[in-house]
Amino acid sequence: MAVFIFLILTTLFALVSSQGAYDPVYNCYPDYNPSNSQYTTSLNTLLPSLSSNIGDDGFYSASEGPANAIVLCRGDIQLDECRVCVSMVAQRIVQDCPDRMRAIIWALNCTLRYSDERMLGAMATTPNINSTYSNLNVTSPDRFKGALETLMNDLRSVAAKGSSGLKAAADIGSGPDGQTIYAMLQCTPDLSNEGCDSCLSQAAELIPTWYPIGARIYMPSCTIRYENFSFYNITRLQESRDQPPTVLPPPSSGSR
Ligand SMILES: *[C@@H]1O[C@H](CO)[C@@H](O)[C@H](O)[C@H]1NC(C)=O
Ligand SMILES: *[C@@H]1O[C@H](CO)[C@@H](O)[C@H](O)[C@H]1NC(C)=O
Ligand SMILES: *[C@@H]1O[C@H](CO)[C@@H](O)[C@H](O)[C@H]1NC(C)=O
Ligand SMILES: *[C@@H]1O[C@H](CO)[C@@H](O)[C@H](O)[C@H]1NC(C)=O
Ligand SMILES: *[C@@H]1O[C@H](CO)[C@@H](O)[C@H](O)[C@H]1NC(C)=O
Repeated sequence: MAVFIFLILTTLFALVSSQGAYDPVYNCYPDYNPSNSQYTTSLNTLLPSLSSNIGDDGFYSASEGPANAIVLCRGDIQLDECRVCVSMVAQRIVQDCPDRMRAIIWALNCTLRYSDERMLGAMATTPNINSTYSNLNVTSPDRFKGALETLMNDLRSVAAKGSSGLKAAADIGSGPDGQTIYAMLQCTPDLSNEGCDSCLSQAAELIPTWYPIGARIYMPSCTIRYENFSFYNITRLQESRDQPPTVLPPPSSGSR
């Protein structure tokens, strides 16, 4: 029976992976630590506490004993959707990356990382994933490249100049042959302006140069997504941008 279930799970995973459109995506670092029960106990306290503690700015960081966690929601979703996502990934990361010292999970609406090292304020570009999930290519890739670069540069600068509560930007650009490019860029807001700019520049280099019609680049400290359809809520993003960052709880129960 166990073998049967394992086979089903393996098949499902292969199916989902082969489509490349899977959500969420993971990086379970290879460093197992099954014997460190104190770490596991800390994680088991820390991870379930994240979704109720995350505030309206969609960013939260906390530590419990030796375990540290950072969660970031997309800047254009509502707090309730954010909490649903954080709660989901907090469960999935334990199931799917059991007994790790570090792991990261990127879902459509939020990202969760935990580590035995402090991550706050440190820009991290690895591990990373470029997810294209479609082999449909844009027309005139050379001209598309120019249009996408212009859009990325503009948005990167807006995102990097964001507040300590939100560093995100979204807008549309005009591609060749009447193509509209919808893009959204986001950094964890604990980064400096320079750190955010640098992370997003490095992420843009991972966009496949054959230019699929849509792509997502996932790094621990920043993400890029572009599509040929509207996928973000600009009203909500603007609302989040105008909001002051949530007041920080003391470092013992959570820190930013
Ligand atoms: C992400 O959030 C949107 C609302 O902004 C919601 O419609 C969608 O179902 C969420 N996606 C997932 C995978 O939870
Ligand atoms: C898009 O370009 C990639 C890389 O050149 C190629 O593998 C793929 O088949 C192309 N897709 C289509 C639909 O032509
Ligand atoms: C995107 O990811 C694929 C699969 O992991 C990898 O082979 C490819 O080199 C990456 N592309 C870029 C531009 O980094
Ligand atoms: C996105 O591009 C694909 C492939 O060219 C096309 O079939 C689809 O209609 C486009 N979507 C939009 C909303 O333009
Ligand atoms: C977009 O955000 C606004 C402002 O928060 C909200 O009123 C609206 O329902 C959102 N739209 C969608 C499609 O989620």
